[in-house]
Amino acid sequence: MEIEKSYIISKLSGPVFDVLTESADALQLETYIIGGFVRDLIIRRPSKDIDVVCVGSGIELAQEVVNRLGKKANFAFFKNYRTAQVKYQETEIEFVGARKESYSHDSRNPVVENGSLQDDLNRRDFTINAMAICINKDRFGELIDPFDGLLDLDECLIKTPLDPDITFSDDPLRMLRAIRFATQLGFFIEYDTFEAIERNKDRITIISKERIVDELNKIVLAPRPSIGFELLEQTGLLSIIFPELVALKGIETKEGIGHKDNFSHTLTVLDNLSQTTDNLWLRWAALFHDIGKARVKRFDNKLGWTFHGHEYKGMKMLKNIFQRMKLPLNDKLKYVEKLVSLHMRPIVLADEEVTDSAIRRLLFEAGDEIDDLMSLCEADITSKNPEKVKRFLYNFKLVRSKLKEIEEKDRVRNFQPPIDGLEIMEMFHLPAGRLVGELKSAIKEAILDGEIPNEYEAAREYLLKLAAEKGIA
Ligand code: CTP
Repeated sequence: MEIEKSYIISKLSGPVFDVLTESADALQLETYIIGGFVRDLIIRRPSKDIDVVCVGSGIELAQEVVNRLGKKANFAFFKNYRTAQVKYQETEIEFVGARKESYSHDSRNPVVENGSLQDDLNRRDFTINAMAICINKDRFGELIDPFDGLLDLDECLIKTPLDPDITFSDDPLRMLRAIRFATQLGFFIEYDTFEAIERNKDRITIISKERIVDELNKIVLAPRPSIGFELLEQTGLLSIIFPELVALKGIETKEGIGHKDNFSHTLTVLDNLSQTTDNLWLRWAALFHDIGKARVKRFDNKLGWTFHGHEYKGMKMLKNIFQRMKLPLNDKLKYVEKLVSLHMRPIVLADEEVTDSAIRRLLFEAGDEIDDLMSLCEADITSKNPEKVKRFLYNFKLVRSKLKEIEEKDRVRNFQPPIDGLEIMEMFHLPAGRLVGELKSAIKEAILDGEIPNEYEAAREYLLKLAAEKGIA
């Protein structure tokens, strides 16, 4: 790949770059923009954050830059890492002095020494991230590319600059980064690099769950997340991070009957859904929607393979998985649980006759998540039979329009029965207790079944009649 210096220079214009050059020259520090910003500039991918390396003190350079940018710039200094950060409008700039690093075997904490630009580039993760652009005035725009990163960008290759065993053992998170970049950019992992991931996969256990999840989130949010999960599986990393997903892999055959490979089905659903939404947690829900299948799988002589109750089993497994992975245990978990537990409902509806009361019940249970649930279910149609796909999608359309109609008419999304427990207690002079709960839920059921409309007067009348029948009134 050829890259014109004039193109590079055209991308380095504006007050931030001007001030960087002035500051570096004033302090006589050889200074470079490095890493992801350079990579993204070359492949014309938007990139906001800028990493700056100088041969000398990065902190002093950052301080000089802040002074020159004036009041609008913020400065932060991270003593432990000997880095500084400057924020100016939308841009974040990280400063560090060029360094040589070596890592101790049992942790990620590097032993740091000052070094040359070459030392600094040697210790970076991939050739495509080990390029630098000089910003001193007399060499402005000069590209330094000691490991042929340009060539690898051209050939769409993720490759370590040094022996991959060294690069990955320095920081095992890089194994996930390799897969993440391959997924985001649609690149291939070079053969030796791939083999080194297979060899070093167990070292991932020294990395914090938060950093792992950060990379996984980026894979999940990529245009085709399946690339990443296939690679995670092939390298053996997935067995360590998410054994539950690996358990979905494979096709078992009995009496000549096989079932589909639920791992590749899951990835197809995730890819399908990724075409329609960037909602991270909806995408996670797609990844987990069939997670319970391996545990409930049975072979029935009449029915063949069954996965009865997998949505409920899957929902039950999620808390443990979220806890183990340090995924958020708040409303995000609740949201994914809800989608996983309800994901079979619209399919059952679309397969049978769509009755008003079934729609009402679904609306009531899904609440605000109803649209997301429908998107998940549409993505879940992965049959290879085009007739079947057409029929299901048509029925889903029907379900969607029925949902809209019923929602407008009955307002049952997130509804509370129009008469609450307190009013029931007052009406019939009842103490709080089971009977009050039963009456309240009878009203709810009557509304969901369409026996009465979702209105106060109708509910009151129904209640009086019911109470009379039970001999309460
Ligand atoms: N880097 C590295 N090893 C890591 C993390 C980062 O060598 N484990 C280096 C790479 O040179 C990388 C640079 O630090 O390009 C900046 O890292 P980061 O901001 O995490 O990634 P980017 O490459 O900028 O990509 P993105 O912004 O998409 O995460």
